[in-house]
Amino acid sequence: MKQEQVLELLKQMTLGEKVGQLIQVLGEDFLRDNVDITTGPLRELNLSNEDLYNVGSILNVVGSENIRKIQDEYLAKNRLKIPLLFMADIINGYKTVLPIPIAQGCSWDTNIVYDCAKLSIEEGKVAGANVNFSPMVDLVRDARWGRVMESIGAEDPYLGEVFAKTIVQAYQGKDELNSKNVAACVKHFAAYGAVEAGRDYNTVDMSEREFRQYYLPAYKSAIDSGAKMIMTSFNTVNGIPSSVNKWLLRDLLRKELGFKGIIISDFSAIEETIAHGVSIDSKDAAYKAITAGVDIDMMSRAYSNNLKNLVKEGKVSEELLDESVLRVLQLKNELGLFENPYGNANAEAEKRILMSKENLNKARKLTADTLVLLKNENNILPLKKCNKIALIGPYADNIGILGSWSIFSEGVKIPTLKETFENKVGKDNILYSKGSEILKEKDINRILLADGKKPIHLENEEENEKKYVKEAIETAKNSDIIILAIGEHYKQSGEACSRANIEIPRIQQNLLNELSKLNKKIVAIVFSGRPLVLKDISEKVNAVLEVWFPGVEGANAITDVIFGDINPSAKLTMSFPQDAGQCPIYYNHYNTGRPQRGDFRFVSRYQDIPTESYYPFGYGLSYSKFIYSDLKISNKKMSKDSKIIVAVKVKNDSNVEGAEVVELYIQDLVASVVRPVRELKAFTKVHLSAFEEKTIEFEITVEMLKFWNEKLEYKAESGKFKIFVGTNSKDTLEEVFEYE
Ligand code: BGC
Repeated sequence: MKQEQVLELLKQMTLGEKVGQLIQVLGEDFLRDNVDITTGPLRELNLSNEDLYNVGSILNVVGSENIRKIQDEYLAKNRLKIPLLFMADIINGYKTVLPIPIAQGCSWDTNIVYDCAKLSIEEGKVAGANVNFSPMVDLVRDARWGRVMESIGAEDPYLGEVFAKTIVQAYQGKDELNSKNVAACVKHFAAYGAVEAGRDYNTVDMSEREFRQYYLPAYKSAIDSGAKMIMTSFNTVNGIPSSVNKWLLRDLLRKELGFKGIIISDFSAIEETIAHGVSIDSKDAAYKAITAGVDIDMMSRAYSNNLKNLVKEGKVSEELLDESVLRVLQLKNELGLFENPYGNANAEAEKRILMSKENLNKARKLTADTLVLLKNENNILPLKKCNKIALIGPYADNIGILGSWSIFSEGVKIPTLKETFENKVGKDNILYSKGSEILKEKDINRILLADGKKPIHLENEEENEKKYVKEAIETAKNSDIIILAIGEHYKQSGEACSRANIEIPRIQQNLLNELSKLNKKIVAIVFSGRPLVLKDISEKVNAVLEVWFPGVEGANAITDVIFGDINPSAKLTMSFPQDAGQCPIYYNHYNTGRPQRGDFRFVSRYQDIPTESYYPFGYGLSYSKFIYSDLKISNKKMSKDSKIIVAVKVKNDSNVEGAEVVELYIQDLVASVVRPVRELKAFTKVHLSAFEEKTIEFEITVEMLKFWNEKLEYKAESGKFKIFVGTNSKDTLEEVFEYE
């Protein structure tokens, strides 16, 4: 449709029809044979039958058959034949579930992040999704927050920036959005990752400098890359909830960042401003949200119950409403839905590509590059095939490894570690024992009840616990090596999954304690959605492989790495703490006036634990051994029109071919405001064959030196800068240059 036709359509719309476009409801209500709005969520939204066939978009129902059914029925009743938009959370895969986003980021590889996003969206697209609620680019520093698992750049603003762009382009294409693609909805604007004490939905209060320096860049990058939508966050930003925060949405997002797309609230966030204590009632919330700039109300009653009256009473101008409606109509038009309301939904293609052999093979390869080797004493890994392996632990034969966003893949059949290990080395060489449950009954039930699910009852829990451990010990006795598959439950990370204690559940720690008495070599495979406190575990075992929630091909990919078919190359994008008491902990912190010096007393440190993280940002091992040498810079001085070339030699000092992520950090030594002890500014992944050496070059530009100064201007200041290059954020070579 031409732009004039879209404007013409808008003119024909009644007030009710306009408001409808700004409402999003759950799709499942449309799927009931007789839509009955006297019950269920639609009743709560106070929608009449007429309203229902005017709503602009629906949430989280996809599948080509569903889409066709809903769209047909909807269009039959919609006066102006304006098609519905189908929006969904296809976060780490639709049917072919891939590693959770934090794991994908650990690849430090835009090709891998791109391929994961592409595979997810190609599947989601034929299932009929028009908009994907991804990427999630919230900067995260506190592992207690359950949603760190969703963050693609995790702790680092630069990684966030790079991957935000990568994912938006994978969904929308590199040019203008068209009907072949899916619109990206970047979330959660803004600073949701900074919720106090890591407790979900909690307050965020920070200086504007901090916000601009660390939290804003990834959202900005998604916007600059053309993301068509943005979702507000649940939290307050400096005293005002995001969904009614005029400064955030109008001044910053629309005016300063120039965002022209649709702003959608998060689920029921508009009405939640009543609980926040900034809106008197639903009408007040609707008024505040629309004037602040929220176009679509996701699942609260605020817009459906009040927008019409607010316009009739002259409190909200119809022009303001029209701006929002036009944005929604324009997106529908860009996606070609007026011509073809089913979009890319295609039953034949669903059969052909969802979890196809090709996609599973791709997933297996992509997944292997997200597994982080944290410890490998005496090169105990990769395992030799001839070993008799005791495969023990609650994750040894478990399919609950897809992560908490695997909402479209319930019931898919996936291989377990037990099966993939047996395939690799034969049944006779694998001695399996469960060893323990993931959690005790009371802990599982707390999760199930919070999800509105029925509690479970584990009969004879205490006795079974002992029995499992005993069996595990008997099994392990006959083995050459123990592989222990442990971790948190996949429902212990994700939304509303904050935890004060981020250790491996005690029941599994007991299992390890007992097994370690056998004095056998132990390799721990750790499943988690967040950095866990692994100190105790790590000290008791010989190797640790962090596998996150790795998705449908997780077991195969882990097997590939454990047996050396693939050499691990992933690195952490979030610091692993020594203790939850260190959270929030991040590598790019400021110095205090009293940095730690030996055992001095009056310095910034803890009395009982070290100050630094247990596994640092950027850290991860390989089966190859990489040596860095000869860091050189092309010039000791740099001006705003010149550049410096940094060169470093990286040698693979082993007979195993491998890939190494080379990381470059910069520190501004003296500035008008405190600057971080180091900040990631560039990285590259280099492939090196056995004993090969390469010289890696980076270009230092003035852009890398800029920051939000004393006057909140984004500028570089003259003075000395330190460059660090190395294998992680701690082990680096250094050089100094001056910027004039
Ligand atoms: C989450 C969002 C998600 C939305 C729709 C909310 O609870 O915070 O990340 O996109 O639900 O499912």
